[in-house]
Amino acid sequence: MRHLLGIEGLSQGQITDILDLAEQYVSRNRQPDKHVGGLAGRTMINMFFENSTRTQASFEIAGKRLGADVLNMSMATSSVKKGETLIDTALTLNAMHPDLLVVRHQNSGAVALLAEKVNCAVINAGDGRHEHPTQALLDALTIRRRKGRLHRLTVAICGDIAHSRVARSNILLLGKMENRVRLVGPRTLMPTGVDKFGVEVFEDMREGLEGADVVMMLRLQKERMDGGFIPSEREYFHRWGLDAEKLGYAKDEAIVMHPGPMNRGVEIDGEIADDINRSVIQEQVEMGVAVRMAVLDLLSRPTHNGRESLLA
Ligand code: CP
Repeated sequence: MRHLLGIEGLSQGQITDILDLAEQYVSRNRQPDKHVGGLAGRTMINMFFENSTRTQASFEIAGKRLGADVLNMSMATSSVKKGETLIDTALTLNAMHPDLLVVRHQNSGAVALLAEKVNCAVINAGDGRHEHPTQALLDALTIRRRKGRLHRLTVAICGDIAHSRVARSNILLLGKMENRVRLVGPRTLMPTGVDKFGVEVFEDMREGLEGADVVMMLRLQKERMDGGFIPSEREYFHRWGLDAEKLGYAKDEAIVMHPGPMNRGVEIDGEIADDINRSVIQEQVEMGVAVRMAVLDLLSRPTHNGRESLLA
């Protein structure tokens, strides 16, 4: 692994290796002293061209716990606002010899393009509708810890699939790990070519949730919509919002996930989101730090097998 641009390029074995290493970081992060220090002297730059709370904060925490010097670029006040291009910005930062660039961008493919122009490792923190690989990895770690396995599970991914990079990365990862993936939502929010994804598609929430082990809700990505995809938020919640009645169709022990940020009362009932017996939303956030530490650790090794984990 030189870069982490998507789940698409990862094998089943690589996914398992990342999750196994992240598991060790979960334990470390629960200790009073969370510092590992193996990235001392390395420079990591966060370049977020789109808003973020979870991803940016957890990459910053992950880098600092590993001992790296972490710079959060404020893209809103950078020279991008004066017309500098993404590539010129990347080349400028590259000249300062960073070791890791973490990039979120509104355009699909922008992070891969940037990775071709720089000398350091690049991590995709979400590009347009394309991929959000560390989100899928943290979701996978959460599922594996709660269900005791990451295969032969029925996972219902519900809501705005068409605009969601989280859905795309999760479909790829869960498929590679041999799970049964269902996509549930209005036809207007299904991506074109969904029949070739190797998933089952449902418009009816009750049918889609029937017997599911995992219910993954998605936010309506209004910032990526250029027209009326739903009749109204009220109607959307009535038909596709997760409430206790619809969740009753999933298995009794089914877990509820949401990548955040969530819109309570639009795609999920607030009581379900806060139900500690069903919702693992806060655990997803915790796993995010561990997964990102594992990814930074792996990408900082000189060669694939050249050095043991920073935790060793
Ligand atoms: N899940 C996620 O990517 O959240 P942020 O947009 O807050 O980073």
